[in-house]
Amino acid sequence: MAIKYADVIVDLQAGDTGKGKVAHHLARSGEYDYVLRYNGGSNAGHTVYHNGVKVVTHQVPVGVLHGIKSIIGPGCVVNVPALAREIQDLMFAGINTTGLIFVDKRAHIVTSEHLEEDGTDTKIGTTRQGIGPAYRDKYGRVGKRMGDDVLSDFGKEFTSTMFTVVDVYDILFTDNTQYRILCEGAQGFNLDIDWGDYPYVTSSHCTVGSVCLNGIPPHKIRKVFGVLKAYETYVGNKEIPVSEVDAPIFERIQEVGNEFGATTGRKRRVNWLNLNEVTRAMHINGVTNLIINKADVLDEVGEFAVYVDEGNPIRFSNAQVFRQFVDGTLMDHSIRHLDITWSKTPHGI
Ligand code: IMP
Ligand code: MG
Repeated sequence: MAIKYADVIVDLQAGDTGKGKVAHHLARSGEYDYVLRYNGGSNAGHTVYHNGVKVVTHQVPVGVLHGIKSIIGPGCVVNVPALAREIQDLMFAGINTTGLIFVDKRAHIVTSEHLEEDGTDTKIGTTRQGIGPAYRDKYGRVGKRMGDDVLSDFGKEFTSTMFTVVDVYDILFTDNTQYRILCEGAQGFNLDIDWGDYPYVTSSHCTVGSVCLNGIPPHKIRKVFGVLKAYETYVGNKEIPVSEVDAPIFERIQEVGNEFGATTGRKRRVNWLNLNEVTRAMHINGVTNLIINKADVLDEVGEFAVYVDEGNPIRFSNAQVFRQFVDGTLMDHSIRHLDITWSKTPHGI
């Protein structure tokens, strides 16, 4: 076997929980030889602070920022011109990506027709990145793949040295090197095609299961980093009723937390953390390490509450009792040894 271990980063809410920051932090540890992105496409937006400078990536795995070879896996869909622009932007920002970016030949291509079709979406509130139509054509068995010798169609938009089309199997299994892999997910549990709030979901698999679909054998999965925020956000057309008491608080959290989509610029709708949903996501993903981001936002706003069931939220008078309650509830419901980290900084964990 040529994989030593694979650690996984997975989102336990509806995206935008700070996975990019976690990936950036872990990739810096020297514990990984490859970063593997396992789902989604340019609908994702990972905001990280690299050497103090804000960088947003959409398709390029965050490992590249630390000079780690990074693979866009077979479970992803690729917008080739957008990927080329992203790589060019990273190069302009002084980040050397040469020889670091690989795309599996099985990854499907988001075409201009997909983009046009998704551009008219009014039902789901998609990011309009062509994701749904691209995955539909994949499952309809009429899609185009990165290995289909169609890249010359994009000849003007990218140069062949920007990334290499590969077979992920050849990279990970054909010699006896014991590779250590960090698997970087996009979107989140509540947007998963099967586990999310259908039809208000994305079209890919956003759970740890997706990692195996990208070529990682299940027994090699070591740690699972489940990422969430101290509150929830959502972008899309699903209706979420908000009480008169909470509306102004959510507005404050939106402002203080700077909750705007990194891909679309849309305002993210805020809600209290839902511990039932997080528990479900934690169980199904087999989480070993929980990272709870943006704890500082609630500290600054000075309001603390969670849902444990349908109905009214439970409110807390200060940060300490809120955190104790969250820690206790999640520990009680954990099915594996669980480490919980509350993170307050956008620069690390
Ligand atoms: P799509 O993935 O663009 O098809 O959008 C489907 C739903 O997922 C919409 O509600 C989007 O706002 C949401 N979504 C997709 N990608 C992300 C993400 O990276 N963060 C947060 N929401 C996302
Ligand atoms: Mg995001």
